[in-house]
Amino acid sequence: MAKTKTVFVCQNCGTESPKWVGKCYACGEWNTLVEEIAITGKAARGSALSTKFSPAKPVAIKEVSADKMPRIDTTVGELNRVLGGGMVPGSIMLLGGEPGIGKSTLVLQMALQMTQSTILYISGEESPQQIKLRADRINKELGDNCLVVSETSLERTLVHVKNVKPSLLVIDSIQTLEREGVESAPGSVTQIRECTAAILRVAKEKNLPVLLIGHINKEGSLAGPKVLEHMVDVVLQFEGDRQYMYRILRAIKNRFGSTSEIGIFEMLGTGLREVDNPSEMLLAHQNEEMSGIAIASTIEGIRPFLIEVQALASTAAYGTPQRSSTGFDTRRLNMLLAVLEKRAGFKLAAKDVFLNIAGGLRVSDPAIDLAVVSAILSSNTDIAIPTSIALTGEVGLSGEIRPVTRIEQRITEAEKLGFKTIIVPKYNKGLDLKKYNIEIFQASKIEEAFRRLFA
Ligand code: TYD
Ligand code: MG
Repeated sequence: MAKTKTVFVCQNCGTESPKWVGKCYACGEWNTLVEEIAITGKAARGSALSTKFSPAKPVAIKEVSADKMPRIDTTVGELNRVLGGGMVPGSIMLLGGEPGIGKSTLVLQMALQMTQSTILYISGEESPQQIKLRADRINKELGDNCLVVSETSLERTLVHVKNVKPSLLVIDSIQTLEREGVESAPGSVTQIRECTAAILRVAKEKNLPVLLIGHINKEGSLAGPKVLEHMVDVVLQFEGDRQYMYRILRAIKNRFGSTSEIGIFEMLGTGLREVDNPSEMLLAHQNEEMSGIAIASTIEGIRPFLIEVQALASTAAYGTPQRSSTGFDTRRLNMLLAVLEKRAGFKLAAKDVFLNIAGGLRVSDPAIDLAVVSAILSSNTDIAIPTSIALTGEVGLSGEIRPVTRIEQRITEAEKLGFKTIIVPKYNKGLDLKKYNIEIFQASKIEEAFRRLFA
């Protein structure tokens, strides 16, 4: 039989404390802590989430005090941004990504920079020597705030937490952890679920933020049970093309902020560099005029940036022309080619078309359509688009340029980067043209845009 454990629960706000104190540290009420029997064993697993958060009695929502949640600065600006302003104490975050994309690097870099906090870095994948080698690459002066240990046992991990009392716990990776008494192999559904549940309980109890690193499977989703994603508060995905050095950090789930923010990094020999101004890195040939290149003003998450679209249209060498795109949906490319054939006399059947979004990014914003068709036409006619022109607009089936979201932000970004002209959809109403220091050309059809580009 399991040993009964007791905790002290605040009768005012429901906060649990392992020992009795006169004043509840969460709500500030005096003499409200009462000893109760803690739920342990099997039952605790199911109720680990609910015990902490269920208040003593239900209250009207307008009476709930919504003080701003305290945030822990991760010292990595892009990470703070994706988390919605920093880590929330007691939250569990899961960072997923392909092997070798830089998850361990990102987390270690953060740990080394957070010199004010004690960080416990539990690695089941690498020895402390290997971690040291990586740390040396990233940072020349190492402080004593980051403690590393190579460990795969859940029980021993929890002992380390108890001894070290870290202000942040990092587990690299959740798939290597193993709970005693659970028969299945590390990385299996049962192991992952059991280990996460145990860590979750400790995190909520001690108000300790935990960052779990997770593997992803062949399909690109996080390995392990879906319940893992449900259990944690934040799910982050680190992605990028291994051939390119740019990395994008996205929030897939965030209980404390929006999921529309992205963070951009560049992998250098000395670790990850934060990219504050994505437009600058994505514009490859700003000064050279070349055919087949168009600049789109796009929005990823809520951040606008300019991106270079490159196209190559050449006479097909074989009977069936090839269509290929990197970073852009091929079906959408085919649709745009059909529109071009109908509207601009582009001889579709005789041409190979290759499309590339510079920097290895994947763009899903439909507003880059106009830049895609312009780049293809530019390559086909071998006439360069002036480098001072940016484009934004979704292209419809009849060749109309459809309105886009957040047009002001797109225009401002182009203006900020020194573009002289931006072509925008005519149907984006309510634009104050005088407000901007950039020529705004409004087009309702792709023919109009082409006339302006290739005049
Ligand atoms: P890593 O963080 O080990 O990836 P993950 O934990 O996601 O599997 O990073 C792996 C790659 O990053 C590795 O191939 C080498 C590269 N790298 C750099 O280019 N520069 C660096 O400073 C570091 C530490 C790694
Ligand atoms: Mg790793």
